[in-house]
Amino acid sequence: MIHSSTKLITLDQFTIHETRQFPQATGELSSLLRDIGLACKLINKQVQKAGLVEGILGKQGATNVQGEEQMKLDVYADELLINILRNSSDCAGVASEENDDVVCFDDAYSLNSKYVVLFDPLDGSSNIDCNASIGTIFAIYKRISPLGQCCTKEDFMQSGKNLMAAGYVIYGSSTMMVYATKTSINGFTLEPSIGEFCLSHPNMKCKEAGSIYSVNQGNWNKYSQGVRDFLTTCMDKSYSHRYIGSMVADMHRTLIKGGIFLYPADSKSPNGKLRLLYECNPMAFLAEAAGGMATTGTERILNLVPNALHQRVPIFIGSKDLVNAALACLEKDLATA
Ligand code: AHG
Ligand code: MN
Ligand code: MN
Repeated sequence: MIHSSTKLITLDQFTIHETRQFPQATGELSSLLRDIGLACKLINKQVQKAGLVEGILGKQGATNVQGEEQMKLDVYADELLINILRNSSDCAGVASEENDDVVCFDDAYSLNSKYVVLFDPLDGSSNIDCNASIGTIFAIYKRISPLGQCCTKEDFMQSGKNLMAAGYVIYGSSTMMVYATKTSINGFTLEPSIGEFCLSHPNMKCKEAGSIYSVNQGNWNKYSQGVRDFLTTCMDKSYSHRYIGSMVADMHRTLIKGGIFLYPADSKSPNGKLRLLYECNPMAFLAEAAGGMATTGTERILNLVPNALHQRVPIFIGSKDLVNAALACLEKDLATA
């Protein structure tokens, strides 16, 4: 619940307060989060009127770098985030699920900016036309290339454990931003009348024991025996099965109610479907900040060293007990293979 209006804490106030605890902080991270918040408020505006105004719903008529069909909102959200971050003066460059390569900003401010931002501008695009929840996912790294020049691809190809902050905005029955830093994870609900994200879910925790599993079970025939064994355990225990098909929405529920979300490798997609840099790393960072776990089935997601900008990896993420139960099934299968 949003605090009574006399006790509102806005996203801006919160991040400024948080960074003041670190004397060396310059406030750049706060202003970057504000700019991402601004872009997401504009995306939200389009999502809200998608059914009413012509030209928002539907396919763009093009495919992205990964050969996936783009929706009009994918393209709008992507361009908007790039343009707002280009003008932000605290962002050296961006990488997006929708673009082949990184975009390095070369204006005088950006050359001296210390952060780069990666994003999935619109997650769950197949849900746009049917009014189900969709989202935006973002990840922020400190660049490793020297200040004063254009950032480089290496700045974006860092291991998830180097993340400075990560989060998502969910365009659901209300619009929320959830973001984590190395010290905390908090949720902010958009109060539409004042256009501000306000602290509504302080210090989020992912339950250690969950009883909801989230997977595209239609892929059953393509799963390994280990994955099938785990899903059989979930069914034997009569756990609830919930799957929206938007990672943001499925992960938001997993963080709020506990449970596990998995997108495993299968016989058609040996690395799963979800992208390490734009989806798995930021979500793993959020899950760990909330006390949960995220693994590929053999390695902690945040330990992976990326080998390509659009790399895909299998993911098992959420409440510790369920992720460990999945790991046990996978390990048993490997041991008997
Ligand atoms: P995107 O819309 O950014 O391409 O992501 C879609 C992803 C993710 O949100 C979701 O978890 C998954 O695709 C659903 O895939 P399936 O339709 O194969 O279940
Ligand atoms: Mn996505
Ligand atoms: Mn997307």
